[in-house]
Amino acid sequence: MSDLKKIKDEFILKLKNKSNLSEINQIKSDLFGKNGLISLQFKKIGTIADSERKKFAADLNGIKNELQDLISLKIIEIENADINEKLEKEKIDITLPERAFVRGRIHPVSQTIDEISSIFSEIGFSVEEGPDVENEYNNFTALNTPDNHPARDMHDTFYLDEKKQKLLRTHTSPVQIRTMLKDKPPFKIIAPGRTYRSDSDQTHSPMFHQVEGLHIDKNINMGHLKGCLNYFIKEFFEVEKIKMRFRPSHFPFTEPSAEVDIGYEIKDGKIVIGEGDKWLEILGCGMVHPNVLKNVKVDPVKFQGYAFGIGIDRLAMLKYGINDLRAFFDCDYRWLNHFGFDPLDVPTNYRGLSR
Ligand code: DAH
Repeated sequence: MSDLKKIKDEFILKLKNKSNLSEINQIKSDLFGKNGLISLQFKKIGTIADSERKKFAADLNGIKNELQDLISLKIIEIENADINEKLEKEKIDITLPERAFVRGRIHPVSQTIDEISSIFSEIGFSVEEGPDVENEYNNFTALNTPDNHPARDMHDTFYLDEKKQKLLRTHTSPVQIRTMLKDKPPFKIIAPGRTYRSDSDQTHSPMFHQVEGLHIDKNINMGHLKGCLNYFIKEFFEVEKIKMRFRPSHFPFTEPSAEVDIGYEIKDGKIVIGEGDKWLEILGCGMVHPNVLKNVKVDPVKFQGYAFGIGIDRLAMLKYGINDLRAFFDCDYRWLNHFGFDPLDVPTNYRGLSR
């Protein structure tokens, strides 16, 4: 038997018994590596007598191709066997009973923000957002609150740099500025989000939530503001009638400015919103100051409108009977289970806001 035939038969036999890829790689290198058996045969070609060389070379090539094909087939066979073994092992038994599944709860603040957004979107407001880290200009200066203005001290600002250029926004009002700078009037937006002040007790948290409202158009007046807020409070507390009063106040970015109180009474130890002879302050508002409009290149002769800022946490506490603000941010799972909402009950005006 020729050398070539011997090599071929020997390796066909070897290949048959192998079942993993590293063994196949070994065979490959035994045959075709630098000193592999087939490689050595190729080196021999030059030494073979002229008359036999052609046939030898042709035989050698034939055997080389045959062995390579067999190796490729073997590799595919091993890979398929691996896959099949995996499939067999990882089979899922779908007849098993499902595992108990605990659905998470929506935080009352998130729920309240969804409710507020739903109520305002019903009367044409869209929702805007701004960053928690603001610059001094948007948070104060553009809102007609210059450097030496006492309102700056009242805000207990968290500054983020020595030059007091960057800060954690103290209110959502800078979103008014951002919105008006990037678009042209009219504007009709709300902007819910986180706000920060260095303050902490039963009714104050260093991080809290506000929703800003802004409506700028031709011929908007304080009557529109009253109508809008009256609608909102009634929808939010899901009551037919609401007692509301506007108290004169001062904000640098509105003129005139007002704070809004709603009537309430205590019945059987519970707060009842809408009636009664007690008053609760819930928001600040006013007609946007012409200086603010000038700062964002809106002509105050052609356009005017109102703005308001509402404390969201306060509203959530009132509506859902939660009496300590700090519980909102404790991340206590039992508390969330009790006060939280089902994620599938998305608040909408037509289906009911809270159930
Ligand atoms: N930014 C005010 C605050 O945090 C609330 C506020 C009052 C917002 C009047 C307004 C407004 O847009 O018109 O105290």
